Amino acid sequence: MSDPQLSPERATLSLPLTHWAQPCEQDALGALEQGKVLLLPALGFALQAQELALLTPALVDPKRKNISYNAQSGRLRGLASGDNAAAVSALLARYHRDCLQLVANLFPAWHQRLHTPVNTLRLHPVNAWRAASTWRKDDSRLHVDAFPSRPNHGQRILRIFTNINPHGESRQWRIGEPFPRLVQRFLPRLKGYSPWICRLQRQLGITRGLRSHYDHLMLQLHDAMKADGDYQQHGPQLALELPAGSSWICFSDQTPHAAMAGQYLLEQTFLLAVADMQQADNAPLRVLENHLGKALV
Ligand code: SIN
Ligand code: FE
Repeated sequence: MSDPQLSPERATLSLPLTHWAQPCEQDALGALEQGKVLLLPALGFALQAQELALLTPALVDPKRKNISYNAQSGRLRGLASGDNAAAVSALLARYHRDCLQLVANLFPAWHQRLHTPVNTLRLHPVNAWRAASTWRKDDSRLHVDAFPSRPNHGQRILRIFTNINPHGESRQWRIGEPFPRLVQRFLPRLKGYSPWICRLQRQLGITRGLRSHYDHLMLQLHDAMKADGDYQQHGPQLALELPAGSSWICFSDQTPHAAMAGQYLLEQTFLLAVADMQQADNAPLRVLENHLGKALV
């Protein structure tokens, strides 16, 4: 569907950075808070010669989607065997350090505020998900991110991605409409919140911490979007081609996104408190609260 708010000019901002510690003149922070995807077409992440051998889906534990690394604890998860643990940890630690330099330059106001870093090495081709996933886990359907077992009570999910495909294959994404319009469309269909069920889920260890009304709505929104075949096909959307050797950044709790094709990706997640935003009215928490006329955490 053609949509003026979803032109590349309105939905993205391209920044000409060529290295991870480069200062930037443009208002990257403002654009990101508005829900734009920041495109960094010339910012690649160089792999060392021996690291290229790590680019194979065989490295991933068959029970997991990706390999993940927590730079604070040093915990690495999702490898099929221990053989490559040191090499993969070193690669993900280096990517985390580069991402820290990037955020220090692009978002100085947030540099000390971004927290809970976790990154992933994504080795499977995107089309492997469709065959293997239920609709709820299928990230080739437009969705906003929400964590089922880790409620975050409104904190922002900032994600940096880098396409490290060694054969020059782009990652293909679709992105969707601005968050306030998404809420207008889906809010009437979302089911009510039951605090006692959420308390029970916490007691049973199904969630780490209490799933708040906000977390409940974001999960419902994620599911309602993915379950709606007509919205997936005909809803407002813009295709993005994300070339090998490029990076991009978005608030994945705000910007509807879907990965359609590609293989070999690095991704770095940080969380950010709503109070640490410059324009907190853009936060999904505030947009939902304004619609409902009440506090959600
Ligand atoms: C997602 O975050 O939904 C998938 C992004 C990707 O792997 O390209
Ligand atoms: Fe996602």
